[in-house]
Amino acid sequence: MKIKFLGHSCFSIEINGINILIDPFISGNSLASQIDISSLKADFILLTHAHQDHVLDTEVIAERTNAVIVSNYEIAMYYAAKDLQVHALNHGGTFITENFSAKYVNAIHTSSFADGTYGGVPGGFVITSKDKNLYVAGDTAVTMDMKLIPMFTKLDAAILPVGDTFTMGVEDAIIASDLVECNKVIACHFNTFPPIEIDANDAKSKFASKGKELIVLEIGENIHI
Ligand code: NI
Ligand code: MN
Repeated sequence: MKIKFLGHSCFSIEINGINILIDPFISGNSLASQIDISSLKADFILLTHAHQDHVLDTEVIAERTNAVIVSNYEIAMYYAAKDLQVHALNHGGTFITENFSAKYVNAIHTSSFADGTYGGVPGGFVITSKDKNLYVAGDTAVTMDMKLIPMFTKLDAAILPVGDTFTMGVEDAIIASDLVECNKVIACHFNTFPPIEIDANDAKSKFASKGKELIVLEIGENIHI
């Protein structure tokens, strides 16, 4: 499983030649100006919730790529009304393909589009494949519901928000990694805006002091898990 960080909470995940784009917010992110959205590949676009910093570039990318937008019912209907391909889920439901599955799981947050349209109840995804399993928490506080995840999936890595203010911060993300039973954490939702700036080295050492790894990717950087 190849994971590329595209800034904020946007990742491109490649599994067996299939490209999954998560929460595309690139054109509005001044830190990600080197990423060219017209060249991004996407077979599927997974959206955790409807906030602008997670969906901004969805429409333009989906129009060009014909990617299937996978999200909660309300978000799926919002894009279906724009004649885009969608697959609606609700919490606990799994989208199953030949190469991967994505289960929509609980998050504690809110969800509305920039135009005020209701964006359903926010979530995260547990992405499983023959190769590796990845948890994408979405925007969330730490929640006891995270304890359910290792009851159905043994994770290889977890993408957790660490920027505080709008989501959990570093200390709570360490607790979250305990709850999901995964010590390899990839940071997201930090540094994009002043209220979510972090000291990355301090965050990494806090994780390391608990025997955990916090991976802080540069925008455009890839890792294989
Ligand atoms: Ni949000
Ligand atoms: Mn957000």
